[in-house]
Amino acid sequence: MMMRPKLLQNFLDATFVVADRFVTDHHSKLSVSRIWAALQTHSEISEGAGTGLPVCSQLGDATKPSLFQDPELCRLIDAFVALEPALSWRVPDGSRLHASTNFEHSHANTVIVGPSGIERRDDLLIGVSLLASNVRYPDHSHPPEETYLVLSDGSFRQKNGAWFTPGIGGTFYNSPGIVHAMRSGDSPLLAVWLLWAG
Ligand SMILES: [Fe+2]
Repeated sequence: MMMRPKLLQNFLDATFVVADRFVTDHHSKLSVSRIWAALQTHSEISEGAGTGLPVCSQLGDATKPSLFQDPELCRLIDAFVALEPALSWRVPDGSRLHASTNFEHSHANTVIVGPSGIERRDDLLIGVSLLASNVRYPDHSHPPEETYLVLSDGSFRQKNGAWFTPGIGGTFYNSPGIVHAMRSGDSPLLAVWLLWAG
């Protein structure tokens, strides 16, 4: 088994420090602790150059140091920026329900740990979504439960509920199968998601 690359381990360590500090929902806490326990066993590493998309030009704005006052959020952003050249960004297949018309060229996501990640495994998924400004992500759902670590201003919705704005460092829980969506305002939206499928 290959060693986990240092930049990946740094990102995971920083992510779970933030999760430990900012996650408040009981289900999310349990989910995050299961993911962290599973990550103590490393899996296959896929070495390869990362691939960007035009929307990745928004990453500089989304990771501007002046946005992050909290030292643990700063550490997470720094670890993400250091890892980013190795990431492969994609436009996901699937639902386009209620997506904004600019969605195809104004959004990308990257799987960091998971079936198509740098670390290949099926029991969990950790990745990042990037939306350019004024983009509405489609309504979608998936069987694994999900915890979001929100790193930007931006709004989120579950089922047909009201849009809510967790803010930078905000977190929330998507139960298995729940329909959810997100949308950016006048600035890009960056968020980390952690899905437990074990
Ligand atoms: Fe999701």
